[in-house]
Amino acid sequence: MRRRLVVGNWKMHGLCAQSAALARGVRDGARALAHAQGMRAAEIVLCPPFTQLTNVHRLLVDASGDARSPSNETTLAPGQVGLGAQDCHVGSFGAYTGDVSAAMLADVGATHVILGHSERRLGHGEIDSLVRDKAASAMEAGLTPIICLGETQKEREAGQATARVSSQIMRSVPDGFAGVIAYEPIWAIGTGAAATLDDIAAIAAPIRTALRERLGPAGDDVRLLYGGSVTPKEAPGILGLGAVDGVLVGGASLQIEKFLAIAEAAGQA
Ligand code: PGA
Repeated sequence: MRRRLVVGNWKMHGLCAQSAALARGVRDGARALAHAQGMRAAEIVLCPPFTQLTNVHRLLVDASGDARSPSNETTLAPGQVGLGAQDCHVGSFGAYTGDVSAAMLADVGATHVILGHSERRLGHGEIDSLVRDKAASAMEAGLTPIICLGETQKEREAGQATARVSSQIMRSVPDGFAGVIAYEPIWAIGTGAAATLDDIAAIAAPIRTALRERLGPAGDDVRLLYGGSVTPKEAPGILGLGAVDGVLVGGASLQIEKFLAIAEAAGQA
């Protein structure tokens, strides 16, 4: 069974004091969940803005050490919280004003990186091939890429959701992918209206088929997350779907109790 994964995407939120309080709360909660749920406890990853990576890393590091591994998807011990960034540049170093590379993220303790989020695809013109190259570069730096994809409301209404996400898998996933896929329908992000369980189950199947087509049997090992208005209310149902391995949480990840309630549900599913 693929282990459950709960990722908190803080987006552009988090000054020093607020980030430290959130990270401390999640760290302590994750330890308590590991104690209560043992090996069933979900893996947890926090993705603060770049400026808070070092601050949050300092609070998350414990005796369990470094979770990074150069060739496989990162494995986190129960109770250990991973650290993710929200984007990276495709190159390692160079004259790219304002950009941050995967090597730099790994250097400050990151284990994961979100790539191709719709807010970057739409707001920064990121296309599938760029997301694919960023994911390859993240893996080379020892990070686990979390590639986001999902259809717009218009595509959904036109009956193109399956074609859209399948094409995003074929074009955004690099060879030898050792990472995570997050299905985030754009119409459900930040709207308070998560996709229904039927919607999620219906699209998870073609996503898995596309992953097999892209990666062969290894496509079965890739974890599939759902993201888009996940709160403690919807989480148990979504996490109860056999086809879903975890959730990517935006708004609710900024509140310790809500985020931990979602992580707890993931350990029970
Ligand atoms: P949301 O964001 O939970 O606030 O809808 C999810 C995301 O964009 O990753």
